[in-house]
Amino acid sequence: MPDPDPTMTAVDAVLPAHVAVIMDGNGRWAETRGQPRAAGHREGLGATREAVRFFGERGVRALTLFAFSSENWRRPREEVEALFDLFVSAIEGELPELLERGVCLRFIGERARFPDELQQRMGEAERRTAENGGLELVIALGYGGRWDMQQAALRWARAQGDEARADDEAGLARYLSTAGLPDVDLLIRTGGEQRISNFLLWQAAYAELLFVDTLWPDMTTDDFERALQWYAGRQRRFGGVPGTQGEAVNA
Ligand code: IPE
Ligand code: IPE
Ligand code: MG
Repeated sequence: MPDPDPTMTAVDAVLPAHVAVIMDGNGRWAETRGQPRAAGHREGLGATREAVRFFGERGVRALTLFAFSSENWRRPREEVEALFDLFVSAIEGELPELLERGVCLRFIGERARFPDELQQRMGEAERRTAENGGLELVIALGYGGRWDMQQAALRWARAQGDEARADDEAGLARYLSTAGLPDVDLLIRTGGEQRISNFLLWQAAYAELLFVDTLWPDMTTDDFERALQWYAGRQRRFGGVPGTQGEAVNA
């Protein structure tokens, strides 16, 4: 089979292959209601469930959700522990629906510091969904973009030995925690901040960035629909010039 025509890929890009979300604003959602921040995280789970349903049904191939960053360890112990309890119960509670939907689950990030029970649940959920052919759902837990590049560079260099070549981008990408997934096409951040906060630094190199003020627990299917519509209206150039050879235009 010949290599895919890049202009054909561009036409298909009307629907993002890979959506990534920085689910921000849970704490503020709770604080404005006079509730503990953990209540905001619990409420946020509802929006997370909706996002998985929505993007899965719309046929995106991969959805990566930022749930706990490598810097979130700086939070008060009480909040971190509440988050871990939530992750454990969410994995257990959501697994039946994920299995029913054919979702394939992957966790990315440094998990060695997590409580044993959480690590076990993560591993079990990955094993039980590994053969599923539906949405690839990636949960970034203990994740940092710099950590990812660092661990990838180390493993890649070890594997390459004296053969190491600095100009092989695809080589390095094979060692990132997102190996096998397409680059991020659409990156959504809720909660009003306009920054990446050490998320998918390599993978989002050419992502379309959508920043919305809505706090994560308030996000609805309509908001996700609007995000896809906004994406479909973007012109993606990847450094090229539209209308000339080698163009990659998303429309
Ligand atoms: C994002 O919401 C969830 C995590 C980082 C775990 P925040 O907890 O950062 O909410 P805000 O930004 O304080 O409102
Ligand atoms: C990013 O949000 C991490 C997650 C959503 C999991 P933060 O709330 O931690 O980011 P900053 O601190 O505002 O940059
Ligand atoms: Mg935040």
